[in-house]
Amino acid sequence: MDKFYITTPIYYINGTPHLGHTYTTVAADILARWHRIQGKDVFFLVGTDENSQKVVEAAKKAGKSLQEFTDEMSSIWRETWLKLGISFDRFIRTTSPEHINAVKIFWERVQEKGDIYLGEYEGWYCVDCEEFIKESDLDDGGLCPYHKKKPDILKEKNYFFRLSKYKDALLEHIEKNPDFILPVERRNEVVSYIKNHLEDISISRETIDWGIPVPGDENQRIYVWFDALINYLSGIGFGQDEAKFSKYWPADVHLLGKEISKFHCALWPAMLMSAEIELPKTFFVHGHWTSDGQKMSKTIGNVVNPIDLMQEFSFDVVRYFLFRETPFGSDGDFSIARLKERYNSELANDLGNLLQRTLNMIDKYLDGRIDEEKVALYSYGLEQAGVYLENFKFDLALQEIWSAVSHLNKFIEEEKPWELFKNNEKEKLSEVLHRVYAILKEIVYFLEPFMPEITKKMRELLEKDRISAPDTPLFPKKE
Ligand code: MSP
Repeated sequence: MDKFYITTPIYYINGTPHLGHTYTTVAADILARWHRIQGKDVFFLVGTDENSQKVVEAAKKAGKSLQEFTDEMSSIWRETWLKLGISFDRFIRTTSPEHINAVKIFWERVQEKGDIYLGEYEGWYCVDCEEFIKESDLDDGGLCPYHKKKPDILKEKNYFFRLSKYKDALLEHIEKNPDFILPVERRNEVVSYIKNHLEDISISRETIDWGIPVPGDENQRIYVWFDALINYLSGIGFGQDEAKFSKYWPADVHLLGKEISKFHCALWPAMLMSAEIELPKTFFVHGHWTSDGQKMSKTIGNVVNPIDLMQEFSFDVVRYFLFRETPFGSDGDFSIARLKERYNSELANDLGNLLQRTLNMIDKYLDGRIDEEKVALYSYGLEQAGVYLENFKFDLALQEIWSAVSHLNKFIEEEKPWELFKNNEKEKLSEVLHRVYAILKEIVYFLEPFMPEITKKMRELLEKDRISAPDTPLFPKKE
């Protein structure tokens, strides 16, 4: 059986999940579900990045011990994904013993390779980015360009990773494997970063006491990114369950947002090359969501909380909107008004009415009975939607599915089953309704990864022994 291993970034736990994190996680869920439907042995990993300085600050602010804080926060993340129906197979925490052990083994391998050396780091560090920043990258006021905060100044003894050694190998791998980094604009950015800016990187910190200790040097803690990336291995048993690890590795897809592409598409593959572990097949780097035209921020008060959204819309509707509205890879802007608009026209009107009237007609004109042999005669040919899905073109997959929805609505208007019934054209009426039913089932099949809850309900209605329309439609109109 083919396997499919997919991951999301592991999120920092100094805050709670918002629409941006939800977006990546749902994208992974869509792919995981699709590949499961295709009969693959899927492993879908999510988790939390806990060994970060931000966590120390947040715990302090909350007046909690680090243990208490990380346990509480990581369970909020886990619970959120469960409430949203995310079909993950494992939730990895970077404070878990199996992860810590995997990091230790990995570090030692890289060290044995001669790729770790002791040096001195002198420069800036932005805790919000969890990143060492070059002087030339600070803004005019000497602030971190992203967080507009003064970074910490560091002068400390650190362990360095020989990242620069892998420059040519990385460029060659990217060149030879066009699907390694997608989409192409992101690949180009990474290539230009590797060509112009790749330098050895500090992978430990001396002045902090939260994080995984450096093997053999308890005075140093491993840099949070070096540790976090290894979750993609520890999450499937690296260093612990070799059979499981070799079953799922290499990752088929690592999904991530564009702000962390250098870590994923340059540092991570170089770390793997150093440890002599096969490289992942594909990184898909997506864009960012704003909310009502602005970056989501607590100060502005426009942070979209997925659980709040669920009070008003079913979560499937949100999933539909996110992947219909904007091509995966591009930036998007979220607004409730836009969501409502799409809901009313595409879900309530186009799909909802189609379903409701089809069920009604089957009830009225065919006594609620469907002949499966007749169903097998018809198909719209939606296979292209599956091809789009596999190639991360979610918006096109949905457009393709909606072309079948429009086709059916038009077909019903043209064939007028109510007139066929009036004129007693039984044969033709049965043919028309079986055709509509067959294509509706096909639509449900391709829509399932996007809208798992609603398609389940649709399938239940379509597969009843005696078909009839529900009293309340699946997609009631919203004012
Ligand atoms: N902990 C690191 C990742 C380590 S992975 C080995 C991290 N965490 S994070 O909490 O900041 O999450 C960043 C990720 O969340 C982005 O890469 C993206 O997947 C998602 N998003 C966060 N905000 C987003 C938007 N506004 N829009 C879309 N996705 C965004 O970085």
